[in-house]
Amino acid sequence: MMAKGLLQNGVHVVIVSRRREKCDEALVELSPHGEVTAFSADITKADDREKLLNFLGDEIGSLSILINNAGANWGAKLEEFPDEGFEKIVNINLNAVFSLSRDSIPLLEKAATQTDPARIINIGSMDGIHVPIVSRTGTFAYVASKAGLHHLTKALAVELGPKHITVNAVAPGFFKSRMTDYVFEHYLTDIEEECPLDRVGEPEEIVGIVAYLASRAGAYTNGAIIPVDGGTSISKGKRSWMDSD
Ligand SMILES: NC(=O)c1ccc[n+]([C@@H]2O[C@H](COP(=O)([O-])OP(=O)(O)OC[C@H]3O[C@@H](n4cnc5c(N)ncnc54)[C@H](OP(=O)(O)O)[C@@H]3O)[C@@H](O)[C@H]2O)c1
Repeated sequence: MMAKGLLQNGVHVVIVSRRREKCDEALVELSPHGEVTAFSADITKADDREKLLNFLGDEIGSLSILINNAGANWGAKLEEFPDEGFEKIVNINLNAVFSLSRDSIPLLEKAATQTDPARIINIGSMDGIHVPIVSRTGTFAYVASKAGLHHLTKALAVELGPKHITVNAVAPGFFKSRMTDYVFEHYLTDIEEECPLDRVGEPEEIVGIVAYLASRAGAYTNGAIIPVDGGTSISKGKRSWMDSD
């Protein structure tokens, strides 16, 4: 969704994921919309991060917007939640974002000016703001990693502002994706009932916020955590106190 929206706004987009075949499928879908390149890398591996940054510096020539989007979830009852599951999720959702952001600074700095800063956009989650119940299973690592990511966003924003790099996070509610296939299939009604707007998000609603953060209009927004969740994270459902019976 984000890649397509940025391409349509004239950005040269480099998409990254571990599986080359998924990258190739995405390239076929995205190519009609603009200049897009794919690179397969596991962002939890230091070697792969280094190769990616070398590719961006040497082959692409610059990096002005880094979107930390890769993420994963793990659901299990508390008593059965394995340490390796917790570590895996925190590693992808938080540790890798820290490492990749840190190592991207030289390239981002090169692309940055005071009036047009380079941007880091972290994809957090409304689950880093509230405690989710709708999936009916514990997602302890996910919620902790996303809350950590939100606060890391603020710490990096303060640190990197003077280098003309802004750091913000988008905290989405439910959007259709591979990650949400299972919960949409089983709990769509609950998801909609939990949302004051009574629905899940649409692609353009994520594209809009990312395009804003990446654009001239977003240049003075720094350290913000922006929920795009129809109000779900601040609500106990769509009923107001006025209609209690
Ligand atoms: N969809 C939602 O409702 C929702 C709500 C809130 C937040 N989010 C956040 O949005 C982001 C995208 O999620 P999604 O819903 O699009 O999930 P998704 O369909 O599961 O996509 C996750 C993406 O991350 C890539 N990835 C996972 N681990 C990786 C790694 N170690 N290195 C490189 N790439 C990796 C995956 O590709 P490979 O498997 O090929 O590596 C895939 O492209 C996540 O951070 C998620 O937490 C989503």
